Amino acid sequence: MSSSQAKQADGICDGVCDGIWHNARIAPAGNPGQVIADGALVVRDGLIAWIGSAVELPEEYGNADLPRHDAGNRWITPGLIDCHTHLVYGGNRADEFALRLAGASYEDIARSGGGIVSTVRATREADEDSLFLQASRRLEALLAEGVTTIEIKSGYGLDLPTERKMLKVARRLGEHFPVTVYTTFLGAHALPPEYQGRADDYITLVCDEMLPVLHAEGLVDAVDVFCENIGFSVAQSERVFVAAAKLGLPVKMHADQLSNIGGTELAARFNALSVDHLEHLSEADIVAMRESGTVAVLLPGAYYFIRETRLPPLELLRRHQIPVAISTDSNPGTSPTTSLLLMLNMSCTLFRMTAAEALMGVTSHAALALGKADRHGLLAAGRAADFVVWDVESLAELAYWSGLNPCRTIVRGGRLSAASKKGVSP
Ligand code: NIG
Ligand code: FE
Repeated sequence: MSSSQAKQADGICDGVCDGIWHNARIAPAGNPGQVIADGALVVRDGLIAWIGSAVELPEEYGNADLPRHDAGNRWITPGLIDCHTHLVYGGNRADEFALRLAGASYEDIARSGGGIVSTVRATREADEDSLFLQASRRLEALLAEGVTTIEIKSGYGLDLPTERKMLKVARRLGEHFPVTVYTTFLGAHALPPEYQGRADDYITLVCDEMLPVLHAEGLVDAVDVFCENIGFSVAQSERVFVAAAKLGLPVKMHADQLSNIGGTELAARFNALSVDHLEHLSEADIVAMRESGTVAVLLPGAYYFIRETRLPPLELLRRHQIPVAISTDSNPGTSPTTSLLLMLNMSCTLFRMTAAEALMGVTSHAALALGKADRHGLLAAGRAADFVVWDVESLAELAYWSGLNPCRTIVRGGRLSAASKKGVSP
């Protein structure tokens, strides 16, 4: 057997992954309740040309002399989507972790000038190349677990040059790595020290200068606000949303993480793509989300790391049929994690989600949270060939293991991702 045939038999393609992927169990929407038992998919020119049951493979493909990739009866899902990250920043906050372990709360630290603002200092000081390198190693870890789409927020600059620097680094990551990056402008993340006591003036800077300029430079796909007692008020958040709406940009919100000050109700009024965190979400908020089609993004890494005790109201979200997404919230203060699979596990153990809900939370529901369900989170003819081959017996294993990475092969845009394993296990 030639080495290229051996690779094909191993389910691994070389570079371009065009051809017929067969002998696979496929969950096209990341929903273990809707699977193709003996599935096949045809990849051509970076896209999925056909997907379905192997016995229905059209003759035009079956008879053609196409490369064949045997998935070894493994599971195939859409590439994973991490829909809420703060991946680009300078330094880390291990020192603050020590303070918290000694008894200080996240809010105490924020109020005494640490927290987000200390990362702002480090991010302002770092140059673009350094930020790129620091974020690269976090991104590489995420990609190795099958992430093919990621959202990256600004928000550790809090001035125009540094917010621009962060967003440029985010775009550059998307050019350099096999991943689609969506950027979110989070200028309203915290009050920069130079605006102490002048939050409204800072919001004016965000709305009248930073957002329009960064948008004109093509750096902004969506706009986020940290609406919280230690963040920005509902009135200030509304000003940011009005500015975003004027530019035709979709909005989302860090809401109801530490308290409920009415953020979600505002977000729903602006048809926000998502509201994220939500430990303090009320049923009235959920009713409003249902009306506006707003997705709930739960962030178990932050819940765990700040040792939150109040759970997001999962049962109410289910009852009102709100799509729930899961994400890492990868950031230096509340969720220094680079494992989306661990978030699946934690969403089950901590939030009592089912493994099926967790998987949809990082595929179809995460795509909805980004407002990109027409492009990601579903394997279908005409869509980008972004998928993962998993070395698992059942999809529940994706939420079951912690620390084991069962990701076998990652195809992104029809090409083998460098993050794929090198085919070591049988
Ligand atoms: O999503 N809540 C605000 N933003 C981040 C935390 C950022 C930080 O502490 O650096 C979050 O939890
Ligand atoms: Fe966040």
